[in-house]
Amino acid sequence: MMIVAKVMRECKEFLQNTAYFFAGEGNILSELLSSEREPEEIQFEEQLRPSRLSDFVGQSRVKEKLSIFIEAARVRDEALDHCLFYGPSGLGKTTLAHIIANELGVSCCSTSGPALEKPGDLAGILTSLSDGDVLFIDEVHRLPRAVEEYLYSAMEDFSLDIVLERGPGARSVRLSLPHFTLAAATTRAGLLTPPFRSRFGIAERLDYYPPEDIHRILVRSARILSVGLTEAAGAEIAGRSRGTPRIANRLLRRVRDFALVRSDGRITKTVAKDALSLFEIDEFGLDEMDKRILTTIIEKFSGGPVGLSTIAVSVGEDAGTIEEVYEPYLILVGFIARTPRGRVATPLAYKHLGKSPGSTMLFK
Ligand SMILES: Nc1ncnc2c1ncn2[C@@H]1O[C@H](COP(=O)(O)OP(=O)(O)O)[C@@H](O)[C@H]1O
Ligand SMILES: [Mg+2]
Repeated sequence: MMIVAKVMRECKEFLQNTAYFFAGEGNILSELLSSEREPEEIQFEEQLRPSRLSDFVGQSRVKEKLSIFIEAARVRDEALDHCLFYGPSGLGKTTLAHIIANELGVSCCSTSGPALEKPGDLAGILTSLSDGDVLFIDEVHRLPRAVEEYLYSAMEDFSLDIVLERGPGARSVRLSLPHFTLAAATTRAGLLTPPFRSRFGIAERLDYYPPEDIHRILVRSARILSVGLTEAAGAEIAGRSRGTPRIANRLLRRVRDFALVRSDGRITKTVAKDALSLFEIDEFGLDEMDKRILTTIIEKFSGGPVGLSTIAVSVGEDAGTIEEVYEPYLILVGFIARTPRGRVATPLAYKHLGKSPGSTMLFK
């Protein structure tokens, strides 16, 4: 009997481990906890996106500064300084760029770094703007270098030098542009060149939201979606949202479906708990890559210290992305510590992953 139980336990463990390692892109869990936007989510997000600064929850320091700059630009009747928003996905960078245009009462033209392949693409957009308009460039770190250099004079002097002919007879004309505001967003501010960065008068980093702010965002979203959400249920979902509004709204959408099918449509604490446990949402909202980073440090490097580039090679992700996108959250929740000799997994991380520090020491 004991042997059967042991074999059963081993089989279960094997399956769990295998499922974990095969949890790739299409896996429901990784979709729920990813802070990247899923294609079918676009319409849902637009519905919930705040359009005024007063609806934008949290980030009070950023909001206060922006409201002053926007007011000043309005009083002086000038274009707002160029703005750069950086920080992990899903924290409100795109939202802020659109809010700025709304608050200024101007149009917002959106594009992205990879879409602007050559200087001509940029020239076409810039010449179509009006005075005071906002040009939003998402993923600005992926702007080709030639286009970036072209932007410099556009940002600084509101002019573009256009080369008319090639070869010895080349002539260039200076084209003057409307006084626009460039609003740029990136998850990888570290990849921007210093001359580019220095051309933004306003550069703000968005940080993960504390659970109280995520809770407020959930209450606001529930109101817009006309779904009943109790105080305790909101707190339950907020705690598992990885400090990220996009994830909070996604979990709310899934829990709403669960409430509709399994209950009377209202989201109570029990409904939220049952739904989140069915979807296997991590108590801290860790996603697949977060877990992979932690298990790598613990299992392959005995908990560290281990260098960032070594972790990057082991988990198959770029070192800069780990440093700027994943690590800040793991440090925030106290799972990773930075030491002069590298990253270490904290006892809290061992506990959360159900590992004991002693067992990995054996492999040292
Ligand atoms: N401060 C906030 N208050 C309310 N909702 C927010 C806030 N920040 C983000 N959101 C919501 O999260 C979603 C993702 O935000 P977004 O601006 O697209 O993130 P990013 O561009 O940083 O990836 C938006 O649809 C919006 O509804
Ligand atoms: Mg965005």
